[in-house]
Amino acid sequence: MSSKNLDFGSFAQDVMLGLSSHPKTLPSKYFYDEKGDKLFQEIMELPEYYLTRKELEIFENQHEEILKPILNLGQSFNLVELGAGDGLKTKIFLQYLIKEKADFEYFPIDFSATVLEELKGTLKTEFPGLTVSTIKDTYRGSLIKRDWENGKPNLILFLGSNLGNFSLEEAYDILNHLRIGANHQDFVLLGLDLKKNPQTILDAYHDSKGVTRSFNLNLLDRVNRELQGDINTENFIHWPTYEPVSGECRSYLVSMVEQTINLKALDQSFHLEAFEPIFTEISKKYSLTEIDDLAVKGGFRTVQSFTDKEHYFANILWQRI
Ligand code: AVJ
Repeated sequence: MSSKNLDFGSFAQDVMLGLSSHPKTLPSKYFYDEKGDKLFQEIMELPEYYLTRKELEIFENQHEEILKPILNLGQSFNLVELGAGDGLKTKIFLQYLIKEKADFEYFPIDFSATVLEELKGTLKTEFPGLTVSTIKDTYRGSLIKRDWENGKPNLILFLGSNLGNFSLEEAYDILNHLRIGANHQDFVLLGLDLKKNPQTILDAYHDSKGVTRSFNLNLLDRVNRELQGDINTENFIHWPTYEPVSGECRSYLVSMVEQTINLKALDQSFHLEAFEPIFTEISKKYSLTEIDDLAVKGGFRTVQSFTDKEHYFANILWQRI
């Protein structure tokens, strides 16, 4: 086993730690390799996966209202985006800001290098005059370094229910990172999926075409590819659950047989009992009251909340207290 493979926070180390834990886990941030990025693009097109379309609806109908407070500062600012992805929704903002002759710089942050490269390319053709500085990092990493800081006010976008990938406790930790170092003029725009009919939520993570299943199983494929694993993915099933009190949609990969998997690159084997689950993802849903609570306890003041017609999704504009 080479020590390089086990750098702190590396894929190898996180897999090693995750598969040695009880219950076993594999962190969801590793979904997004080249294949995973493609599968997530497919997920966003699925009829069952309403999240992206609902947030897009909010932006299309209410972008003026959402951007009014930052524009009213009447000064040059930074538009920072945690987990920018393909930038589909943000392009609505970019277009409007450019039309309004706003003076701003765009800092898309993503953990996937491929996603950032692609985004850079499309922005260059669609918005040739725009200043873009990409940052490849995790949410926490980027919030600690704050590479965008240049004395100007920031509007930090944290969209697409990305904060939902964390438990409540972890969410407070991220919000803490968001608040510490933020200036009083800074705004945060959060996008969170709302509690609704549990069936609607479960269906979004258990689509009829099986794309989400492939997305989840890709974690095992990635272990095979990058850590020389011998995992037979057919021995696992995709198992999403929704718990309506906590609002946690959790996804698992359940081993249907007793088996031992070998990861050559780590020189390690892991034993799985029949029906032993590997926990892979949390996609937490909030009520509007819980979001208010999140703001108060997180040290933010709610400027305004925006939702779609069906109240499926919410975008909340916060300012630091
Ligand atoms: C990109 C994290 C918001 O949790 O809904 C989609 C990822 N997982 N289908 C989500 C995802 C399964 C997605 N986020």
